[in-house]
Amino acid sequence: MARKPFIAGNWKMNTTPAEAKALAEGVVGQLKGFAAADVALCPPFVCLETVRGAVQGSPVLLGAQNIHWEASGAYTGEVSAAMLKAVGCQVAIVGHSERRQFFGETDESVRKRLGAALAAGLQAIVCVGETLAEREGGQTKAVVERQVRAALQGLEPAAAERLTVAYEPVWAIGTGRVATPAQAQEVHAQIRGLLAERFGGGAAGAIRIQYGGSVKPDNAKELLGQPDIDGALVGGASLKAGDFVAIVKAAG
Ligand code: 13P
Repeated sequence: MARKPFIAGNWKMNTTPAEAKALAEGVVGQLKGFAAADVALCPPFVCLETVRGAVQGSPVLLGAQNIHWEASGAYTGEVSAAMLKAVGCQVAIVGHSERRQFFGETDESVRKRLGAALAAGLQAIVCVGETLAEREGGQTKAVVERQVRAALQGLEPAAAERLTVAYEPVWAIGTGRVATPAQAQEVHAQIRGLLAERFGGGAAGAIRIQYGGSVKPDNAKELLGQPDIDGALVGGASLKAGDFVAIVKAAG
């Protein structure tokens, strides 16, 4: 089954609204006429409004970096699906390893965030991946299996249509130490198998699995050439329009 590549830029805690506008306009301008991959930009919450203006009228999707599972209420610092949709978001990232590492995110909270995003009709990118200690301890498969199973618990099969999984080995994030295509493909194939167990082979064959962790213009093509690598979740390189666009074009 042919899957359309999906490249998302996770800007993390970078850019003011003015910087975000310029970056998004650069990406949109350089991608004019390019339709071979789906593309999303995920700026900080405070930049969503200006980036929405920049991507309007283009195929580039607007994404958030996190989402809360409740509709509203006393949850200081959190943002709901309805709020994200109201500012034009079509995509939400959930369970990023930085959220898990630094902000107490658990398999259970990731499951709730993912469920809320999908129930609201958003596309969701759920992130999984092992730490360096877990890889060196031979735990990669077990960790990824636990994270994937926990995230998907209770999901309606129909929601799988809007699901993307991002495999982001923690040791490759922001380190310049990229997983080899073979290392990444091995885990992607494992994830595809878990998706097939959960949703059936047909649905699993349609779900995009992104790789994330030090994706750059010079390594993107080889990674994206692997049979189960259907896109990329790009951090650092997504902060330069030219680099991000080069990665997108490597997918198409
Ligand atoms: P880098 O591309 O900076 O390694 O970040 C990857 C990432 O965490 C994307 O979500």
